[in-house]
Amino acid sequence: MGTRLTGKRILITGAAQGIGLAMAKTFAREDASLFLIDRDGAELALAVDALRQTGATLGSAVADITDAGAITAVVAQAAGEIGRLNALVNNAGVNVFAEPLETDDATWNRCFDINLKGAWNCCKAVLPGLIEQGGGPILNIASTHAFTIIPHTFPYPVAKHALLGLTRSLGLEYAGRGVRVNALAPGYVATQKVIDYWNDFADPEAARAATMKLHPGGRIATPEEIANAALFMISDECPFMNATCLTIDGGLSVQQHPA
Ligand SMILES: NC(=O)c1ccc[n+]([C@@H]2O[C@H](COP(=O)([O-])OP(=O)(O)OC[C@H]3O[C@@H](n4cnc5c(N)ncnc54)[C@H](O)[C@@H]3O)[C@@H](O)[C@H]2O)c1
Repeated sequence: MGTRLTGKRILITGAAQGIGLAMAKTFAREDASLFLIDRDGAELALAVDALRQTGATLGSAVADITDAGAITAVVAQAAGEIGRLNALVNNAGVNVFAEPLETDDATWNRCFDINLKGAWNCCKAVLPGLIEQGGGPILNIASTHAFTIIPHTFPYPVAKHALLGLTRSLGLEYAGRGVRVNALAPGYVATQKVIDYWNDFADPEAARAATMKLHPGGRIATPEEIANAALFMISDECPFMNATCLTIDGGLSVQQHPA
């Protein structure tokens, strides 16, 4: 057991699987106390069981980040179970891909409610406690979609660009109160979300191979590689890192085109 997160009481959203679960495992190994939320109760129960078996200190709740009232209740519940939260990771997010002119209001709203407003709901619920305690870190899991565009993925990148705007805005607003707000931008990461994306193609194996080929190193990230960067950003090891975004994509987003 490490001690890089001793004393941290961290809320992680979308923690039942993928990058969220990898962060929960990594943070627990560094002595953090965790409060995990997800809207998928069955997956969350499995994740919590697995983490408890490792001796992790944690609480959990089934909650949807788009429900501001539920999130306020979750923050109060967390304080009762693991102590007052002093860090937040906004990780929950969903792919919403449509042809722009065929994007109906329901699709647009679902994209922005989860990928942007959900993160704001959690910031709004956690920030007063952070400020009263003299500060603390917020980490928003953005994406390389926050500053580049892949055609046919509208309006997901629009929401991720806005999440970067939220990061910068809150980072500046509360810098004088000890709060640090940063974003982490993964490229492709081997999670169910990416497998689902490949499975939407007529030939999923060819789609998978094409994704690998796009990358300068011929592979995509593991969730653990993203979690290790998140560990640094949520720790006290980078106190002057604020209102910025760290990209972890194996160099993909700076490549003009594959050789
Ligand atoms: N996987 C990638 O390649 C990739 C790349 C860049 C950015 N990201 C971002 O990383 C984050 C995690 O992605 P992932 O690949 O681990 O996804 P995932 O689908 O594997 O896991 C996301 C989790 O969030 C939960 N969730 C979704 N909507 C929710 C809501 N409204 N309220 C509560 N929980 C909700 C889901 O139930 C799920 O357990 C997302 O914000 C995503 O946009 C992922």
